[in-house]
Amino acid sequence: MSNILHLQCVSCGKTYSTSDTEYTCPYCGDISGTLDVVYDYEFIKSQLSKASLENSHEYSHWRYLPLLPVDQPQLIPPLQVGFTPLYKAEKLGEQLGLNGLYIKDEGKNPTASMKDRASSIAVVKALEKGARVITTASTGNAASSLSAFAAVTGLDCLIFVPENAPRAKVAQLLSFGAKVLMIRGTYDHAFDQCRLAANKWQWYCRNTAINPYLGEGKKTAALEICEQLSWKAPDKVFVSVGDGCIIAGLWKGFQDFYRLGFIDKLPQLIGVQAEKAAPLVKAFVEGKDMAETLIPETVADSISVGNPRDQVKALRAVRESGGKMITVSDDQILEAIPLVARGSGVFGEPAGVAGYAGLRKMVDLREIDASEKIVVIITGNGLKDIDSAMMAVKEKPLIVEPGLDDIENALLSFGLF
Ligand SMILES: Cc1ncc(COP(=O)(O)O)c(C=O)c1O
Ligand SMILES: [Zn+2]
Repeated sequence: MSNILHLQCVSCGKTYSTSDTEYTCPYCGDISGTLDVVYDYEFIKSQLSKASLENSHEYSHWRYLPLLPVDQPQLIPPLQVGFTPLYKAEKLGEQLGLNGLYIKDEGKNPTASMKDRASSIAVVKALEKGARVITTASTGNAASSLSAFAAVTGLDCLIFVPENAPRAKVAQLLSFGAKVLMIRGTYDHAFDQCRLAANKWQWYCRNTAINPYLGEGKKTAALEICEQLSWKAPDKVFVSVGDGCIIAGLWKGFQDFYRLGFIDKLPQLIGVQAEKAAPLVKAFVEGKDMAETLIPETVADSISVGNPRDQVKALRAVRESGGKMITVSDDQILEAIPLVARGSGVFGEPAGVAGYAGLRKMVDLREIDASEKIVVIITGNGLKDIDSAMMAVKEKPLIVEPGLDDIENALLSFGLF
């Protein structure tokens, strides 16, 4: 592949050609041996410039093709991934006393979460390798995303999800025609079973972190943010963290544009986890390189992860950026759903708005300056988990008989007259 120099182990530094190894460093294992995709930036500079991007009519994340691990662009699936809006959230910003708050709405992707950025790359890699079957373990979003991309590219899709995956995500899986295995246990169990089965039956595996190409898809959100802010990186980016692939991918994106000279500074990344599912916050605070496994418990199913698979890259990203990892409670996550919806018009699932809950907490602690340019990534759409949204709102609809008298009474009880 002409734009990639090699894959490099994050722990021992050994390098591998893209044909040498598919997933992780055999010496360091799955958690410690995740691989960085190392590019030839001089070659990329000859293919990509600010001017070429400004003149591009490719309104999807494939506008960054020279920075993506794709050998055969003819295999790119037709769904529109990325190029999601970055809204200047005036009202939400005012509520927090911030002058420069922006919301990146990742729920606008084809299956309504940021995972589409990674799945779109995974199917290309699977097809390039001649795979017939693709598989993944997932809390739900990566699976529903992969199912759509498998459907449109003709790959058979086998999914491993925990038994308690939200119904909307399961409905997506089944509608897209995936074969679904609900593992009795947590996401962490589903992950391990999927990895073993993929190995045994030689399926292409999209499991997060062990597949080095997924973060390359996630990074395109960072590239878009820089373009949308007129070639400026924000001061801080807030995002929810489960396995850590999204936050690590974002860092890779900002670094790529910095290396190419498209931006002149890097943002601080703030990773947000749920209080009872926060192995990475603990490792960060204790200054450790590895997280201790725990049994996770949170309403935010997408970040209910006890053994974060991209922990090395995630901790490295947050530390290198000078940012931090923080927790929020489930109540703070639920409160954030209507706050973000009413303040910005964007409806997020619990993990989708956890980044905003983290920002709100840091504002309360006076750790944010009013003049900072802040981006909050809403990673998944609220329709993914309406039970949580219903728990989050205090108001209930009123049932009324047809007739203006009854409607007037209802309006009075709303306090509208
Ligand atoms: C909506 C949403 N937000 C956040 C995350 C966390 O991403 P990561 O596991 O890469 O940290 C996920 C992962 O499933 C997700 O679906
Ligand atoms: Zn290694």
